[in-house]
Amino acid sequence: MRYRYLIRRLFDRTVGTTRDFCVFTCSALHGGGARESGIEVYDSGRMPPQSVRAALQRHAGRVKSRLMLHRMRRHGGMLLTMMEGPNLHGYGWIQTWRPVKREFWWLADDAICLGPYWTHPEMRGRGIYGRLLSRSLFECRRRGWDELYIWAGVDNAPSIRGIEKAGFRSLGRHRVSTYLFGLVRRHEEIEAPPPGEPARRSRRQPAKTGGR
Ligand SMILES: CC(C)(COP(=O)(O)OP(=O)(O)OC[C@H]1O[C@@H](n2cnc3c(N)ncnc32)[C@H](O)[C@@H]1OP(=O)(O)O)[C@@H](O)C(=O)NCCC(=O)NCCS
Repeated sequence: MRYRYLIRRLFDRTVGTTRDFCVFTCSALHGGGARESGIEVYDSGRMPPQSVRAALQRHAGRVKSRLMLHRMRRHGGMLLTMMEGPNLHGYGWIQTWRPVKREFWWLADDAICLGPYWTHPEMRGRGIYGRLLSRSLFECRRRGWDELYIWAGVDNAPSIRGIEKAGFRSLGRHRVSTYLFGLVRRHEEIEAPPPGEPARRSRRQPAKTGGR
């Protein structure tokens, strides 16, 4: 049970997986974002205390939360949490590009990935996701991280709505297939961005990701 996430990931990586995403982008330097209160921000120089790790494990699972903390320690990025006492109301990750590049190589050479985010089921619909996204934009801007991407499964209506409300621009719908640990991979645009939305940036354009 506890290792279901790990087994699924291993299966996806070896045998293969196809996933459809709505992809969005935003420039942190030109976009919104605010220093929302009640949100703690951790990074590799300030790892979360045991109480926060325990709350993360309760909701995200032990394997997944350890994997994400390991990524943060090794590759940089940030963890944002909103807690009340021992209760975790929501969290979100800001990831550097390296861990996601295997699946999103077609999107950018180097950039920042926002996500995944989560809010407690009892706290949903109260704008927590929006606040986490707003604070994420603020933190990226502070660090001079400009080129940001975020995606959600095409069926994830609450997430898509929250992302759109936070001011991200749609880059359309994309299908990504990876097989054999990413040795075989395929990307196709299954729906173009709405008219008026600028096309996605050239993959050759490097992101400004501070001291990475
Ligand atoms: C996606 C998620 C983070 C949204 O959290 P939240 O705190 O409820 O988000 P918000 O309160 O900011 O609301 C987001 C918007 O989606 C809307 N929404 C909620 N459920 C919806 C649905 N089924 N269909 C369409 N819109 C929906 C809300 O009404 C709100 O819009 P509004 O303010 O215009 O009313 C939360 O549902 C979640 O944790 N889901 C599981 C994990 C996940 O899917 N994460 C996203 C992938 S990174």
